[in-house]
Formats: sequence, C-alpha cells, structure tokens
Amino acid sequence: MDKLIIEGGVRLKGSVRISGSKNAALPILAATILTDEVCVIRNVPNLRDVHLMLRILRTLGAQAEFKKGVVTACSKRLKSYTAPYNLVSKMRASFCVLGPLLARFNKAKVSLPGGCIIGVRPVDLHIKGLKRLNADITVSGGYVHARSDELKGGHIYLGGEFGSSVLATANVLMAAVRAKGTTIIENAACEPEVVDLANFLNKMGAEIEGAGTPAIEIKGVKALKGVEHKVIPDRIEAGTFMTAGAITGGNIVITGIIHKHLSALIDKLEEIGVILERTDSSLRIKAGRNLKPANITTLPYPGFPTDMQAQFMSLLSIIPGVSVITEKIYPDRFMHVAELNRMGAHIQKEGPHAIIAGVKYLSGAPVMASDLRASAALVVAALAAGGKTEVSRVYHIDRGYENIEKKLEALGAKILRIKEN
Ligand code: EPZ
Repeated sequence: MDKLIIEGGVRLKGSVRISGSKNAALPILAATILTDEVCVIRNVPNLRDVHLMLRILRTLGAQAEFKKGVVTACSKRLKSYTAPYNLVSKMRASFCVLGPLLARFNKAKVSLPGGCIIGVRPVDLHIKGLKRLNADITVSGGYVHARSDELKGGHIYLGGEFGSSVLATANVLMAAVRAKGTTIIENAACEPEVVDLANFLNKMGAEIEGAGTPAIEIKGVKALKGVEHKVIPDRIEAGTFMTAGAITGGNIVITGIIHKHLSALIDKLEEIGVILERTDSSLRIKAGRNLKPANITTLPYPGFPTDMQAQFMSLLSIIPGVSVITEKIYPDRFMHVAELNRMGAHIQKEGPHAIIAGVKYLSGAPVMASDLRASAALVVAALAAGGKTEVSRVYHIDRGYENIEKKLEALGAKILRIKEN
C-alpha cells in the first residue's frame, strides 16, 4: 500500500487546475446503460472509483474505455442485469446502476453496498423511490432484486431522517426517465452533481425539469440516444485545495471551477478571515493575518458539504480559539479526529459535534487514512505541520483525487509517494 511522505511548513504558491467531478461522473457513467448508442463523456477524472464503475459496466456487457479523461461507452450489447457483490461492495456509488438497469431490462439484481467507515448508509430511500415507479423490490441474499412489468410515473417524497439523498435522487431519476407518464420527486437532492446528471439525461432525450430544486418533474420517454457530455468540475477537490492554500498561509489560484458550487465554502473561509479574489473561472486564496475560529454545520447543498468537513477541521485545528463542527449528514464521520490529535490537535468529539480548541502548531506524525475525505484532511494538516508526516493507506485518496501529489508538488509542497506492494 502506497504512502505519502509530506514535509510540512511550505507556503503553497501558484495555480492548480481542478479535475472533473468524481461524484458527477459516476452516476453519469451509470446512465449510459439507458441507451443502445455510444456516449462520449469528457472531463472524467482518472480515479480508482471511475475505473471501478467502468469495470461494472463491462461486467454487465457494455463496452467502456477510458483515454485521457474521455470515456467512450456503449451499452448496445448489455447482457446482464446483475451487479455483483465483489464490485458493488467496493464502492457505494455503484448502487446507482439499479435505476438504469431496471429501466433497461424491467429487472435488476444489484448487491447491497454494505456498511461504510463513515457510518451506516442505508438504501431505503432508493428502494422507496423505485417502488413508487411500480417496481417490486425484495432484498435477499445480500442483493436487491427489482422487477416491474412496466415502470410507471409516480409522486415520490424522497426525504429521510437526514434530509435528501444524492444517489437515491440519481437512481430514481434514471429509472423515471424511461417510465410511462410523469414522475414528481419531492425533496430531491439539489447538489450540482444531480443537476449535471439531469443535464446529461436531457441531452439524451429525457424530459426533466427542476433539477437543482427540491421538486423535479420527469416526463417519461420511450428511448434515449447517445450523446457527448463534459462533466462539471469537482467542487470538493476545489474546496480541498482552498483549505490547503489557507492552512499553509499560501497564495494560490484554483482554476476551472464554477464559483456558485463553492458558495458555502467561500463564505466560511471569508468568515474565518481568508482573503479570496475571484475572476471568471478562477479563485485566488490568500491566508489573512488573523484567522478566526468558526462554527460549521454540514447540510445538504447549498449548505456546507459533509465532504469538506474533515478538511476544514484540519484548518480550524490551528486557528486560535474554539470552533465547533456539527455533522448533520453522517453523525459518525469523525475518524480523522483521532489522527489529527496524533498530530497535536486538540479536538474532542461529543456525539455529532467536534469541539476544536485551536493550537499553535501541528507536528508531523505517522497517520493512517481511513476514508477518502479523512485522508484529504490528513494531507491538508500535514502541509502545515512541522516536520514529516507519513500518511499510510493512501489508496483511499486515490479513489477521489486525481494526481494529488503532483498537483501539490506543483504548488511547492514537499510531498513524495512511496510505492509499496
Ligand atoms: C453522496 O453519497 C456522495 N457520494 C458522498 O460523497 C456524499 O458524502 C453524500 O452524497 C452526501 O453529500 C457520491 O455522490 C458518489 P446521501 P450518497 O444518500 O448519495 C441518508 C465522497 O467522499 N440516507 O445523499 O450515498 C444517509 O445515510 C462521498 O465523495 C438514508 O437514510 O449520500 C445520509 O445520512 C462519501 N437512506 C443522508 O441520507 C438512503 O436510502 C445523505 O446521504 C440513502 C441515504
């Protein structure tokens, strides 16, 4: 397993281009199942999760190749409606082949994704939504079995204990585009990744209105066609570099971004005292002199994203004063707390809250990545820590960050990947 060795204390300088969004690309790749024709998807990040989704498509019988950020996929010869445990268990996003398979074959068998290090992640909303589209769904042997004589539009309230669901919205959307009649999804997720999926589906010939709002209306169509599409930039990668710039007292420019996807992050950084300057598609991040503590509550979009909670915790850990983070999406998503404390942070977890007493310095230590965003947080902390940090299990980071060490190195960071078997 590879390790990252980071020598902290360098102020990052220069410019970094943000890659395509992982969480937009994955459902869009699943949506290629909905047509017999060839789809060309551009700006796809070269990530482990993307390659896993391509493997799933190939297992189903599709042709799918990745070349320099462009995926060419064709599901004409799809032969299987089963997404097996050995693949789905590796990545939760693969569960979103359920909707398109059901739309394509009127039946689907998809492994339950199982538990996850960031907490319990049920799929009840996915199932509830698809049932409302006239699918019979049973769960047995670790698989979701879905079947329908004919998918029919329905009125669906897609909210749970923690609000809307991104991938449940995607799953229902992908089935509803081929259902007979009109579907209304209420309390739909408003995340930009859902909007990108809806834009892709509309290009294919779907009739979706309201994506990006809590009420989406879908008029089912008989067939969808192959199209070209460019995936939106990754707002979480952008946010991660924003925190890296801020924590090192650096001066960096992130390019290729969509500002409005970053509003909650920009707002929080400005509250903390970070100086942000925008041009059309770029953002300069300069650390201010007197950074202030802040309270953060994670919420569905356009609120503060749970996927940026850990990286902001790293930043807040060296800002004098007390900050509180409340995690409202995944109340147990705090694996990074213990690792940050090993680097000298003073963070206490109290239920869904983390109370951060800012310290003057972090110091390098051997730490272990536990999930994708927690790993990113450790890298962000290591960039500011005195001495050397060794982050092990970086395969987590490779699931979601394209060329992270090369991008950081180009900004001046002292970072090295040690390859291990
Ligand atoms: C997506 O996961 C993202 N993954 C996650 O990013 C992200 O953290 C999450 O949305 C929240 O923004 C992808 O897009 C591939 P949810 P998803 O369903 O859709 C509960 C990363 O690091 N819920 O929106 O699976 C759930 O437990 C990953 O890139 C139910 O109760 O998340 C959570 O509390 C990690 N029942 C809340 O809803 C369900 O059926 C929101 O989860 C589904 C979800």
